[in-house]
Amino acid sequence: MEDCNVVGYDIRKGTRVFVNAWSIGRDPLLWEQPQEFCPNRFIGSNINVKGTDFELLPFGAGRRMCPGYNLGLKMIQLSLANLLHGFNWKLPDNTKAEDLSMEEAFGMITPRKFPLVAVMEPRLPHHLYKF
Ligand code: HEM
Repeated sequence: MEDCNVVGYDIRKGTRVFVNAWSIGRDPLLWEQPQEFCPNRFIGSNINVKGTDFELLPFGAGRRMCPGYNLGLKMIQLSLANLLHGFNWKLPDNTKAEDLSMEEAFGMITPRKFPLVAVMEPRLPHHLYKF
């Protein structure tokens, strides 16, 4: 909306700025072993995803932040909880957890580079799986 200066960089009015949240999420100055898939790093951490902790921005931040973040989080938690409640999960017999590749394919979004193959078995009474 107006000329401004952000951490020493002059930015002209009207400039379109893309924030590289992917790169921030892998910055070794901000994260220990940033290339490691390690969800445990968040246990006991005060960092949240609501746009105030700039090192973790899955929903963006500020006035254009995702307005659906609350629904998004609830849908993911509900879906995951249902899958874990309804099924026992394991890897195929020929796959070890430590060999599982967590590599990502580059693009607008970052899907897995290699699809996850998992074996699921119902763990609840049979009639609960009928629609
Ligand atoms: C886990 C699920 C979701 C993720 C990771 C996500 C992520 C994002 C991100 C990164 C942005 C861009 C924010 C920015 O420009 O700084 C965005 C924008 C937006 N999201 Fe989501 N989102 C999710 C779910 C949803 C849901 C469930 C809705 C609606 C029901 C929604 C509606 C929108 C809308 C309308 C915008 C544009 C906001 C604007 O430009 O002013 N999102 N989202």
